Amino acid sequence: MKIETADRLRHFPVYLFDDLDNQKAAAQAKGIDVIDLGVGDPDRPTPDYIIDVLCEKARDDRHHHYPSYKGLPEYRKAVAHWYKQRFGVDLDPNSEVLGLIGSKIGVALLPMALCNPGDIVLIPNPCYTAYRPGITMAGAEIAELPLLEKNGFLPDLSAIPSDVARKAKLMLLNHPGNPTAALATPKFFSDVVKFANDHNIAISHDAPYSEATFDGEVALSFLETPGAKDVGVEFHSCSKVFNMPGWRCAYASGNGEILAALGKVRSNIDMGQFEPVQLAAAAALNGPMDHPRKMAKMYQERRDALCAGLDELGWKVIWPKATFFVWTRVPTDMKSGDFVKELLAKAGVLISPGTGFGALGEGYIRIALTVEVDRLKEAVKRIRDAGFVYS
Ligand SMILES: Cc1ncc(COP(=O)(O)O)c(C=O)c1O
Repeated sequence: MKIETADRLRHFPVYLFDDLDNQKAAAQAKGIDVIDLGVGDPDRPTPDYIIDVLCEKARDDRHHHYPSYKGLPEYRKAVAHWYKQRFGVDLDPNSEVLGLIGSKIGVALLPMALCNPGDIVLIPNPCYTAYRPGITMAGAEIAELPLLEKNGFLPDLSAIPSDVARKAKLMLLNHPGNPTAALATPKFFSDVVKFANDHNIAISHDAPYSEATFDGEVALSFLETPGAKDVGVEFHSCSKVFNMPGWRCAYASGNGEILAALGKVRSNIDMGQFEPVQLAAAAALNGPMDHPRKMAKMYQERRDALCAGLDELGWKVIWPKATFFVWTRVPTDMKSGDFVKELLAKAGVLISPGTGFGALGEGYIRIALTVEVDRLKEAVKRIRDAGFVYS
């Protein structure tokens, strides 16, 4: 039989990190010890106090049934508690918090909940790889918000054409940003709320890196902004904050009507999270915040080691103030993809091409800080030895 796939598959690229994994495997097959600075997967383990709760609850067979779609009340209350103590934001755990199996599925399904075919969704370029496919699946159209270095990688709302604003139904934002690491300012967020109200556009703010900030910076929640809950929701995740990426435990919070629509979509196509995972995440959210603080310090030390090392090689790196990523210009006139391939072949260091995050990523690369300082120094040494040195 000839298997015929759907036309929409043509709009889905090979997922960037699958491609990078293939490049890595091919290099390893040639005997190269690859230093992987590609994917932003936290390398340190989940703290023991969280794992202990999972183990204890997993032995209780009352938690072995299908979980509720919205998330356990204990989990939703823990989310509300965390938002209050971290951002001063009040959330009703019943109507303003929705549990999710990872924020990736949440941001991908949101367009299906809010958009009709032909509606416009505004997304940053460059942006996190999961935003585009969800919009395509909903049959909606994409309009891009260029993230330019001269604007501190923040979208310029005044540059959105009025016919685009009129047709737009949803705007996806992400700060601290992946890949750019840009932090939002209070003014930017209040401009977003005004723009949303002026044009009747729902806002989705994706904030999984809010705790990884450096040099005394503190990331804002969009929901801190006056009026934000009237127009939007925020996605958050335990993946990065508590080193739990494999646990698939996240949540959305904010506007109850948007969450109800998203909840309706997801209840038809996925499930709630395994209850012991939710209870372990609740313990994390209710517990002390020493772990995220320790991780932020660690990422800052890694940033310092990598950026200082590359600057000595003449790379003129943009030092990030947040996230696990260095987003910086290709230090030569090569295209991003070619530079990444050459770095892997000659230095055994894998990084991401900026174009994997959108066309405006051309000329940029993203380097993940997800290996220890010694390994980052080894990467810099290999890069120097391979001749990637510029004046
Ligand atoms: C901006 C952004 N949003 C969402 C996610 C997905 O996180 P989760 O593990 O909660 O699905 C990532 C993961 O890399 C991300 O970078």
